[in-house]
Amino acid sequence: MKEPHLAALKCPKCGKKLSLNGSNAPLSEIEEGEIVCEKGHIWTVTNGIPSLVHPSITEEDAKWIADYDEMAENYDELVKEYDEWLSVNMMKERENFSHFIPIEGSARIIDVSVGTGANFMALHNRYKGKMGRFNLHGMDLSTGMLKVSNAKFTKNKLSVSLTHANVFNIPYLPDFFDIVLHSGGINTFSDIPGALNELLRIAKPGGFIIVVDEGVSPQKRETDEGKAIMKANTLFAAKPPLEDVPDKAKDVEVTYVMNETFYQIVFRK
Ligand SMILES: C[S@@+](CC[C@H](N)C(=O)[O-])C[C@H]1O[C@@H](n2cnc3c(N)ncnc32)[C@H](O)[C@@H]1O
Ligand SMILES: [Zn+2]
Repeated sequence: MKEPHLAALKCPKCGKKLSLNGSNAPLSEIEEGEIVCEKGHIWTVTNGIPSLVHPSITEEDAKWIADYDEMAENYDELVKEYDEWLSVNMMKERENFSHFIPIEGSARIIDVSVGTGANFMALHNRYKGKMGRFNLHGMDLSTGMLKVSNAKFTKNKLSVSLTHANVFNIPYLPDFFDIVLHSGGINTFSDIPGALNELLRIAKPGGFIIVVDEGVSPQKRETDEGKAIMKANTLFAAKPPLEDVPDKAKDVEVTYVMNETFYQIVFRK
């Protein structure tokens, strides 16, 4: 991990600044070792990824993460099955989040629960050689998922700062990102209001928060196709958790994407 990545983070225990704890200080980069906060809390860095998980995760979350760790290597293939089943090209549709990115200038973007990195790969496909203006960060609680996305980003020469952390206590500074993206996890999160609050906290004033997850649209629910999808996979019966969007969120909008099988909540800070 490099110094600018560190400068965007805070200690998940006390909120203080973090610094590289190497013996050859001042270091500007660390692959393996430790980082330390101003109060002395120490966190490990493995393969350039800082682990900033605090407090310990609940049993319920641990169960989900164990599943994600196990399926990480095959996750892309599993998701690809959705394409045929739902008549969508999910990678192509993921490119649409680029609509929320300022059309020029730099942009700080975080994919919270980055998984295997599909959203940033879609952005990479969309912008080809013009990714230099983006400052990209990815966070996930599954080390298996982070391993897969890290390898993918490296292979594609895409610079993304990755952090191992929990959505319920995101170790990033407040008011930092132009775009905060989350796809695929919120329906099963144990504390949805807590997660949405954290997504809002790390966005800049005026920044966009985009939350996408399984949930068939009201119109499609009435169709045989919609009913069959919800019966085959009950996750698709989920409704957008609008009641959990923080009161101070602005311009809250819901649309349906992926052939009306996923909801997309967009709001601004
Ligand atoms: C269905 S996958 C979606 C991955 C990716 N965003 C995508 O759209 O393909 C859900 C992701 O949420 C992550 N996740 C689950 N619980 C989490 C938590 N409490 N904090 C952060 N990430 C979490 C999982 O590890 C997994 O990578
Ligand atoms: Zn600390």
